[in-house]
Amino acid sequence: MQPAARSEAIYLDNAATTAPDPRVIAAVHDALVQCWGNPSSSHQLGLEAERAVRVARERVAARLEVAPERVTFTSGGTEALALALLGTARQRPRPGHVLVSAIEHAAVQRTAEQLRAAGHTVETIPVEHSGCVDPDRLAGLLRADTLLVAVMHVNNETGMVQPIEAIAERLRRSHPQARLLVDAVQSFGVLPTRLGALGAHWLALSGHKLHGPKGVGCLVAAPGLALPPLWGGGPQEHGRRPGTENVPGIVGLGVAAELGKGDPSALERATDRLVEAVLTARPGAYAVGDRARRAPHIAAVALPGLRADTLINRLAELGVYASSQSACRSRGPAVQSHVLAALGVPTGHGVLRLAPHRWLDDAQLDRACAVLARALREC
Ligand SMILES: Cc1ncc(COP(=O)(O)O)c(C=O)c1O
Repeated sequence: MQPAARSEAIYLDNAATTAPDPRVIAAVHDALVQCWGNPSSSHQLGLEAERAVRVARERVAARLEVAPERVTFTSGGTEALALALLGTARQRPRPGHVLVSAIEHAAVQRTAEQLRAAGHTVETIPVEHSGCVDPDRLAGLLRADTLLVAVMHVNNETGMVQPIEAIAERLRRSHPQARLLVDAVQSFGVLPTRLGALGAHWLALSGHKLHGPKGVGCLVAAPGLALPPLWGGGPQEHGRRPGTENVPGIVGLGVAAELGKGDPSALERATDRLVEAVLTARPGAYAVGDRARRAPHIAAVALPGLRADTLINRLAELGVYASSQSACRSRGPAVQSHVLAALGVPTGHGVLRLAPHRWLDDAQLDRACAVLARALREC
């Protein structure tokens, strides 16, 4: 069953957000109608709401192969990442060293700036031309006082999969005190994200990138790791995240986590077809990053001499929604993203991001490819 279409438009912007799955919508609706009790109340309504949160926690935990109590629900990916970054730093008696990859989402980069302002030394881990962090180069940046290393799993602008297992291995071997924070917002539901297999200490997820609701996500912690809450309040979420739980959102996230984002090989075929359509229609265009390291569901194509906003507006007029970079920046002034700059994509090369969803059928893909070719001819 696919989401009810709001228009005939073909949506290729699933790295920005995703349409809620109808099964998620049904579960959220049921939770709003039937589970509106406060999970902390001791009467029947409270117990039902508490049970709904417990089931959702078990569903998320099962996908990551962690114990349910390792999952802390938050208001989304941004808060989960901030909880790990600020919480880790606050636990330390004195300022330390923090490493952040050059391609992290603003949620990590801006929070790392707060750590710098608080006296921590924050350094950037560069990426190679492939769009990926080199674990050996990263190992060379580690210090005896490194508290935290933040490297995302799948980049939201290029789809490049980062070598998390190899990075975790380097940390374990030479700097076991350093914690590894992995932003799995884009990878969860498509790639395997078992916490233990990745070797991460913290993993951040977001509901709305997963055909789930907005305003809900979670931070998942390896066994034995604790964090202080970011603010004061009640004892919810094992004391790690005060505030009455967003029961409908949490229920929706649980269902979305169980459903995932669809068959990775079908997503990959769709992404490949779209990329191919652009490369064929525009001589000189090139896929950003290393194809061998691209996730199935996100790709970026650079178009020398073309303004991305002109192309994206024309695509929208023709009924195809795509974007050029992170949604947080796409309405601001046309400045090149830090991710593309880190990969060395020149400013004059407009970038088109293509991120299909699992409900696209062959007819829609054909239409999307034809529209891409037409818009590229016209722009
Ligand atoms: C890679 C990545 N991390 C974090 C976030 C932030 O998640 P949320 O929108 O749930 O706060 C996003 C959303 O754009 C993202 O793409």
